[in-house]
Amino acid sequence: VLLASRPSGVPAPEHFALVRTPIPQLGNGQILVRNHLLSVDPAQRGWANNEGNYSDPVSLGTPMRALAVGEVVESSTPHYCKGEFVYGWFGWQTYCVTDPDAVLRRVTQSALPLSANLSLLGINGLTAYLALHQLGRPVAGETILVSTAAGSVGSFVGQLARILGCTPVGLTGTAEKVRIAQQRYGYSTAINYRQETAIAQALQHACPQGYDVFFDNTGGPIADAAIRSMRRHGRIIQCGTASIASWAKPVSGVRNEREILTRRLQWSGFIIFDHIREFAAAAEKLTELALSNKIVFDEEILFGLDQAPTALSRLYRGQNIGKLIVQLV
Ligand SMILES: NC(=O)c1ccc[n+]([C@@H]2O[C@H](COP(=O)([O-])OP(=O)(O)OC[C@H]3O[C@@H](n4cnc5c(N)ncnc54)[C@H](OP(=O)(O)O)[C@@H]3O)[C@@H](O)[C@H]2O)c1
Repeated sequence: VLLASRPSGVPAPEHFALVRTPIPQLGNGQILVRNHLLSVDPAQRGWANNEGNYSDPVSLGTPMRALAVGEVVESSTPHYCKGEFVYGWFGWQTYCVTDPDAVLRRVTQSALPLSANLSLLGINGLTAYLALHQLGRPVAGETILVSTAAGSVGSFVGQLARILGCTPVGLTGTAEKVRIAQQRYGYSTAINYRQETAIAQALQHACPQGYDVFFDNTGGPIADAAIRSMRRHGRIIQCGTASIASWAKPVSGVRNEREILTRRLQWSGFIIFDHIREFAAAAEKLTELALSNKIVFDEEILFGLDQAPTALSRLYRGQNIGKLIVQLV
């Protein structure tokens, strides 16, 4: 699936082209990976756009950048063997010839399904685990507000917060997701932000004492309102900006500097790819939690490569329940 043209916001199917080409020859030191499962991530919107980001934009006419889980089917390096499964930058394509540095983590065999390597043990679970612990520094008894609470990252933040003895409060976009967040992901309460005319009041009603940590995945008006009910010395984790369709032009909103100052807040950005060395240890911990039934992971699996181009807009319409994955094999 090639990126055929640059979107100005959320990529739609017309921005991609499905083509068939021969598998390139394997160079010295390279591996050929047969992709089994492709990841669909909100971050792909930013990678496809030509805007300031933490990584270069995907070049037009090249396979769409994506994380994937695949099997090494040929290897000309001693570091990876034929038959081994790996997680890394293999793109929205059936096969990928690559240098080994595209591999982020080896897939270790466990009782968990292979797909868990893209959800619980992929960037969603890893981001929830590492960002919450390292930037949120939650202490038992604290309240943690989470936006996109019923999404993949949000589902893990709620459950991890609960495990740590905290009270997670969620924001999400439908009544069904409110129910799932509360009944399945450990949220003590959840707010449907699309139904509320005044998010600030709904937050005050749900958390009269405010919250200590705000795990923000949306930015925009939700974040503008949420910051104003933070407790003193609160920590804001800026993990995503799902509500802002494009950063091409400056986006304006209310000014919150005074809130940061007077409430003594810490506002930190988190990018999971700064933490690759911590992936294996975090994945081991998350595996333990899942195998001891302390954490659940939900996935929505679409079948066939031709599903990939439509999957991103599905994510941005909030239609996914759980981690969106495209299965090829
Ligand atoms: N910083 C990092 O390293 C890192 C790594 C992984 C993910 N993330 C971020 O984490 C967030 C969640 O990612 P995910 O993969 O778990 O996806 P997800 O939450 O499963 O799916 C995205 C969700 O975003 C919400 N959304 C879409 N458009 C929105 C809008 N205009 N306003 C508010 N919410 C909107 C929708 O949920 P509702 O129906 O609830 O609105 C949708 O289901 C994203 O912002 C992503 O960029 C960051």
